[in-house]
Amino acid sequence: MSGAIIELKGLTKQFKMKTAVHKASFKINKGDIFGLIGQNGAGKSTLLKMIGGLLYPTSGDIHFFNEASDKNQLYFERMGLLIESPGLYPAYTAYQNLNLMMIAYGIKNSNEEINKLLQLVGLENEKKLKVKEFSMGMKQRLGIAIALLGSPDVLILDEPINGLDPHGIKEVRELILELNKNGLTIIISSHILEELSKVATQYAIIHEGKIMETISKDELLLKCEERIELEIDDAKEVTPVLEETLNIKHYKVNDQNTIYIYDSQVENHQIVKHLSAKGIAIHSISKHKQGLEQYFLERTGREAAYSDQFI
Ligand SMILES: Nc1ncnc2c1ncn2[C@@H]1O[C@H](COP(=O)(O)OP(=O)(O)O)[C@@H](O)[C@H]1O
Ligand SMILES: [Mg+2]
Repeated sequence: MSGAIIELKGLTKQFKMKTAVHKASFKINKGDIFGLIGQNGAGKSTLLKMIGGLLYPTSGDIHFFNEASDKNQLYFERMGLLIESPGLYPAYTAYQNLNLMMIAYGIKNSNEEINKLLQLVGLENEKKLKVKEFSMGMKQRLGIAIALLGSPDVLILDEPINGLDPHGIKEVRELILELNKNGLTIIISSHILEELSKVATQYAIIHEGKIMETISKDELLLKCEERIELEIDDAKEVTPVLEETLNIKHYKVNDQNTIYIYDSQVENHQIVKHLSAKGIAIHSISKHKQGLEQYFLERTGREAAYSDQFI
């Protein structure tokens, strides 16, 4: 069996004339913090609702632990969801909210379980406070506690930091990392890649209902790392000079005509000097640094407005 806990195969959702999600296919591995990134209206909530069993797909399949979801309804019980705002009772405390939810879900409501959850989300000291007196961050953390009822294998959080102040964002981010450390697989959506990058280990970029790219954290960081871009006729004749003469180890042949050099100590003029000495023509050489947001914008067709970020 592969490490995939969830696999989407051509998942599609059509609302009358609107295709909200179009043939989404990707895998989520156990232990991932899987970041779904897309602008408003891209299809994030629709996709998460299908994964969480709140919306039925128009076509395509979801496999959970290699089982098709429609063959195994128990699948949805192994998901904890926080999609859109949590349905909380404002006149009650966090403890009372959890107690009511446990009764509603038909889970045995125990004092011990409630206290454990309150502690996990950092609300154990707010025993007397009613939810209407909570900050946005506290409400969100209580929403996460409710999503964790029944000890799910996968937690789905749809834009959990929307509307939070920087302090609230930090609290939710730390909670996500803590829950993941205990083995929980987490799927989290956002329209801000920079924020997602502080937690996610794997990403899918969604744009107008289509998955544009799936990429690991390491691959993304490498793509956004500062580099020298070198345009030449034939990478094969250039790499020996880079390695042997200039002692450059950290580089990537992007295609036959482009090489990316990541070694930060090497200067452009040294590269020009040594390649020229071997009679190798350089078509262009430039320093390139791409921020995470710019990377995301390029993949969603809005790069033009940000081109001044190049150096
Ligand atoms: N119930 C619905 N009926 C019709 N259109 C919908 C419905 N839900 C979402 N949509 C449309 O599908 C698209 C994707 O929406 P959504 O998944 O909410 O995007 P996101 O969460 O990325 O902002 C949007 O154009 C939205 O208007
Ligand atoms: Mg949404």
